[in-house]
This record gives sequence, structure tokens and C-alpha cells, in this order.
Amino acid sequence: MRIEELVRSEGLPEEVAHILESHGVRDLYPPQWAAIEAGALAGRSLVLAAPTASGKTLVAELACLKAALKKGGRTLYLVPLRALASEKYEDLKAKYSPLGIKVGISVGDYDRVQGRLAEADILILTNERADSLLRHRASWLTEGLALVVLDEVHLLTDPSRGPTLEVVVAALRQRRPDVQLLALSATISNAREIADWLSAQAVVSDFRPVPLRTGVYLDGELLLSDGTKRQVDGGLGPVTDLVREVVGEGGQVLVFVATRRSTQAAARRLSRPLQASLSPEQKRELEKLARRVEGALEESTPVCRELAACLANGVAFHHAGLHPAQRRLVEQAFREGLLKVVCTTTTLAAGVNLPARRVIIRDLHRYYPGLGAGWIPALEFHQMAGRAGRPGLDPYGEAVLIAKGEEDRQELLARYLLAPPERIVSQLQQSGNLPAYLLGTIVAGYASSSSQVVEFFSRTLLAHQYGLERLRELLGEALQFLLAEELVRSWGGGLHPTPFGELVAKLYIHPLSGVVLREGLRRAAGRAPGELALLHLLAHTPDMEGLRLRQAEAGELAQLARESEFLLPVPGPQEPGYREFLEEVKVSLALRAWINEASEAELEEEFGLGPGDTYRLREEAAWLAYAADRLAGLFGLEVMGLRGLRARLRYGVREELLELVKLSGVGRVRARVLFEAGFRGPEEIARKKPGSLARLPHFGPALAKQVWEEARRLSQLAGEPG
Ligand SMILES: Nc1ncnc2c1ncn2[C@@H]1O[C@H](COP(=O)(O)OP(=O)(O)OP(=O)(O)O)[C@@H](O)[C@H]1O
Ligand SMILES: [Mg+2]
Repeated sequence: MRIEELVRSEGLPEEVAHILESHGVRDLYPPQWAAIEAGALAGRSLVLAAPTASGKTLVAELACLKAALKKGGRTLYLVPLRALASEKYEDLKAKYSPLGIKVGISVGDYDRVQGRLAEADILILTNERADSLLRHRASWLTEGLALVVLDEVHLLTDPSRGPTLEVVVAALRQRRPDVQLLALSATISNAREIADWLSAQAVVSDFRPVPLRTGVYLDGELLLSDGTKRQVDGGLGPVTDLVREVVGEGGQVLVFVATRRSTQAAARRLSRPLQASLSPEQKRELEKLARRVEGALEESTPVCRELAACLANGVAFHHAGLHPAQRRLVEQAFREGLLKVVCTTTTLAAGVNLPARRVIIRDLHRYYPGLGAGWIPALEFHQMAGRAGRPGLDPYGEAVLIAKGEEDRQELLARYLLAPPERIVSQLQQSGNLPAYLLGTIVAGYASSSSQVVEFFSRTLLAHQYGLERLRELLGEALQFLLAEELVRSWGGGLHPTPFGELVAKLYIHPLSGVVLREGLRRAAGRAPGELALLHLLAHTPDMEGLRLRQAEAGELAQLARESEFLLPVPGPQEPGYREFLEEVKVSLALRAWINEASEAELEEEFGLGPGDTYRLREEAAWLAYAADRLAGLFGLEVMGLRGLRARLRYGVREELLELVKLSGVGRVRARVLFEAGFRGPEEIARKKPGSLARLPHFGPALAKQVWEEARRLSQLAGEPG
């Protein structure tokens, strides 16, 4: 059906058709049509299971528009990752704000909307953010709610992200039992079961706008899943040959490998062969890109320089050790076609939306902590493979695995190419987060008695798949913990959060983190604990990720641990938890170096932390420092050194620079430069001329002027009475 007709028959403004046509949408794809026939625009709940790039989003968009323009209803658009949220936000805002639709986004502490968040017609949230808003009893969230979109819903099966989504869905459905749900996924084999859980109908399709071929490469031969065989020339090794073939035809390639180190090694190896194929014009553009990426951060590190060197040759690596700003630049350059090849980790597959003509999945093993190396799930293979084929650019997409021998080839065929994705199963019981969700449920007011708790959780996928018996048991244990630690109190037949429980839930930290912090703060009160002791307290909470120990480090860390004081009891070397303790000490040392202004390069050298790791660690730690400060306030505990810790972690500076990093454009490096030049805060800067800043290292005239103006504004504000 033509889009114009659809728009007319649904009573939507004609402009919708014009907007979509300008984005290349003229006719509906078959799965879109099927979804609409099943009632997507008539308020019916659906699970839409259709391949990558089959246009699932458009169905959701049309349903949003229908809700907003015809009923004045709000849509919550839930996505599992921040990067996906920003992408959706930019896209929807550009497309639909001309219609007067207000699009909002809220992820972590980053909120943006025209007007207030509560006024957004379409509000894009990460699952965590939705959960957090619900705990703050943001009742506006469900008022006027017409539609909830659950994008990438297969991530229900991801142990770290899925459980939150289950609980959010349960909460939204408790508030608004008849709200329309649209769940979208490209890799869901049990769509009917998930639909059943959501009281929805499953719409399943295998339509692809660009045909996908999958194959296994072995010794120069590509065996495709349809049984045909083809030779690949070159002799420079499987990855290089497979890359060169496609780049030579004007296509782009994504290479998935197991580790960060491998992404870098693969990109390096591809640099020389690719460089030869670049035109002088391309070389110039790539040089520019390389300089931008290297200069994206205030300080560049070995990994930044290595990335820049690869970029100049038309190839990039992409992994969690890179700063988000650098990753974005790489992604953008790939989408624009400037970059021909990106080598990325299989773990990051969910976070990159980069279609390419050929997707090479070189490594199919991953290290699972505590379990060792194992095959990655077929679901992840299908997610990666699905990225092959850029609509409008590629005549076909190709996903290729690399076999080591004939036996391996058969195994890869059976395990991945011919196997459907695994069934989506609830991860709620394994997640260890049940106490957190239970506390959140009580604090948000969804349940205030044991039976209401069970009723609430009976709406989760866990209950749907495993029944209530197991759930009752798990909830019983979680409740015991909350009662014993005084996060929840039981009286008058009801369950009530204590002020401690309420604060912990609203800070969005794990109840166990709350307990650990309370314990540590009590021990620290009235003393002046060392930096390392305070940082270790944060590192010991389950909300802080660990850093893997390198074999050689253990001895050194043990030595250091013996000589240092900690707030919490230290396990003996033979006791359980000792290795984790050393890992926490490593995190604490890295954080201590960071807040004492060790350079990013030193952090990389000493702790193996890339700029992306420092970024994540410091965000987590800064939040926990803030949480600790709030808890200290609640319990009336005075802990020296805690106050400024959040800001120091955030900016990576000593106390004396805190006034200076308040200025935008001034990070830790420039703040130190200013300090050395005698500036202690905005007032001193405001008293001088902008020219005196412009002469300092790391400042140019434009930045100097901007910083000076802001300093003046800030110091005037500070100087104003009352
Ligand atoms: N009917 C259509 N005609 C032409 N292009 C379309 C149509 N529907 C969607 N598209 C375009 O196809 C591209 C992919 O669509 P979309 O992002 O919705 O895929 P998806 O099904 O959500 O895939 P994924 O599983 O990767 O999230 C978009 O650029 C979209 O504008
Ligand atoms: Mg999508």
C-alpha cells in the first residue's frame, strides 16, 4: 500500500506522508503491512519479529503519531542502551518536530526536551532510566500514556539489561493495564511466548529489503548457506582477503573479533593493504578525521594515537576502551562512507548500528568470567549477521565466518548459520538484583504487602516462564534481606520503606551497596580516612565494576594491601573473596591516580585503562561518592574528605582545581595550566584580560575569550548580594 493512502485512511496529516517520502518511504514493506493489519495503528499490542532493517521502527513511529495526533496520548520509547537512545532521539526529532510533536530523551542525568519532560509526546528512555523515574513516583509518566515501544526486546535475555525491562513492563502494566505495547526484535525465536506474556499478538516475518547471504570461509573458499561455493583470491590471510574483495567493489566491511587487543591488531594489519587503494582526496579527508579523533579529548593517549594512525588508512577499531566521543566519530565516518572498515568487539555488537555490505565474524568464542572460554550465542551471531547489507547502497549483504578446518566449518554451519537464535528467557532470577527491584517496587508504591509483592512480580516474564512457586521463594529471600538490613519495615500487615530504603532506591544503587556504604561510613565517621580507604569503600559495592587482575599484579597489590588501611574488614589471602578484594584495590588505586591527576596515558600504561574505561569508572565512582555523601547526611555521619570526592572523581583533579573545572571548556589539563599560572578560581580570571589566557598552553584566543566571559559571569553571580 502506498504511504499516502495509509496516511489518509488513518486520518493523519498529509505532511506525514511527505516527511516519510522525503526519507525514501513510499510503499510499506510486507512486515509493516502485516503489523498494521494486526492492529498496530488501532491500539493493539504486538510483538513484531522481523529481520534487521525490515522497518520495524516505522511501525512504531506511525503508532506514536497516531497516538499523539489523534488521541493526544504519550509514547514511551524504551531502548536498552544510551547510544541507541540518542540515535532515536535525533532521528525522531528531525523527522517529526515539524508536525509539532515534542520528542524528549532522558538517559542517566542527561535530559532534553522542549519544555518539561512531562510534556513530551514521545519520550525516549533507557530501561534503567524508566525504572528510576518510576521509583521516583513520576506519576506524569503514566498519565496520558497510550503506547509503550519496547525496542530490541530480545535483550530481555541479557543478564545485565533484561531484568530491568521486565520490571518496568510489570510496573507500566500495573498502572495502565490496557496500554498498547509494541515489542520489536530481529532475533526472537519464541515470539509467540513473549507475545503471550505481553497479552499481545505475534507478527513474524522473514522479509529483508536487502537479501542476506551467510557463508563460511575456509582456505580461500567461501561456502554459502545455500550450498554454492566461490573462490576468494589474495593470499594475504582470510580477513584481509575477505575485506579487500569487498572494498575493491566499493563496499564496506565490519569485522567482529573477541577482544579489544584483537580489534587493534586486526585494524593494524589491514592498514597497509587498504592504504594502497585510497585516492589522494580520500587520504586528505581521512587525515582530517584522524586529527579530529586524536584531538577529541583534552589529552591523547597511546590508544588515541594508534586509532588516528589506522584512520588515516581508512580503517578503524572500535571498542569499549575508546571514549564515547571517539566512538561516535568513528561511527559517523563509517555511515558517511569515508571509512571502509571497522574492526569491533563482539561484545559491543548490540551498541553499534552500522550496516555494511560484508560482516566478518572472525571470533565466535568469548571469555566468560568464572566459566572460561565458550561459544557466543546464536542470537548474537544473528544480530551481527543481520547488519550485512545497507539498504539503498548494497545489492546484497554477506555475513561470513572463518573456519579453521573442515570439522570447524561443519560445526559453524550447524551452530550458527543453520541454527535459529536461542529462546528468550527471563534472567531475573539469576541477576542478583531481585532485592533491588523488590525495594524499588515497595518504594514506588506498587506493592505494600507480601501478597501485593507477589502480584506485582507475577507480571514479569520470570513468572510467565517459571511459574509463581519459584518466584515466591526468591522474593521471600529478597524480602528477608531488606527487612534484616532495615531497608524495609513490616508493620500493620504492610511493608514500608525506611528512609534508608527510600534513599537507596531513589539513588538507584543496589540495596547491598547501600548496606556496604552505611557500614563503611559508620566506621569512617569522626576519623579522617585515607583516600584509598574511601575509594575502596566505593569499589567494594556491587554497583562498581571490577578490573581484571593481570597475573603479575597480584603480588604487588597484596603487598600494598597489607600496608594500607581500609574501612571494611580485609579477607585473609586464603579466605574466599581475597581475589575480588585485590581487584577492588586495583580499582581504588586507579581511581586514586585519576583524582591525583595522573594522565590518561599513565592510566593506560599502569592499569590498562583506555579513555572509555576511565570514563565509565569515574562516572560510576562519582555517583557512588554522591550516594555515600547523601547516606552520611541521612545517618548524621561526618566523614572527612567525602564532600569534594564526587567532583574530584568526575573531573579527575585534586581539590585545589575544583573551582576551575566548573568553567565549561576547562577540563583537568587546562585547569592545571590555569592553576600553575596563578589562577585559583573564576574571580582571578575575571580580573585579568582574556589575552592573558590566550597565551597559555592548551588555550587559543577563541577559547580564552569564552572562558573569560564565563568566569566573569560566574564571579558576578558570586559577588551579587543575597
Ligand atoms: N517502507 C519502507 N520503504 C523504504 N525504506 C524504509 C521503509 N521502512 C523503513 N525504511 C528504512 O529502512 C531503514 C531500516 O529501518 P529500521 O531502522 O526501522 O529497521 P529495524 O527493523 O528497526 O531494524 P533493526 O533490527 O536493526 O533495529 C531505515 O532507514 C528506514 O527509514
Ligand atoms: Mg530497530
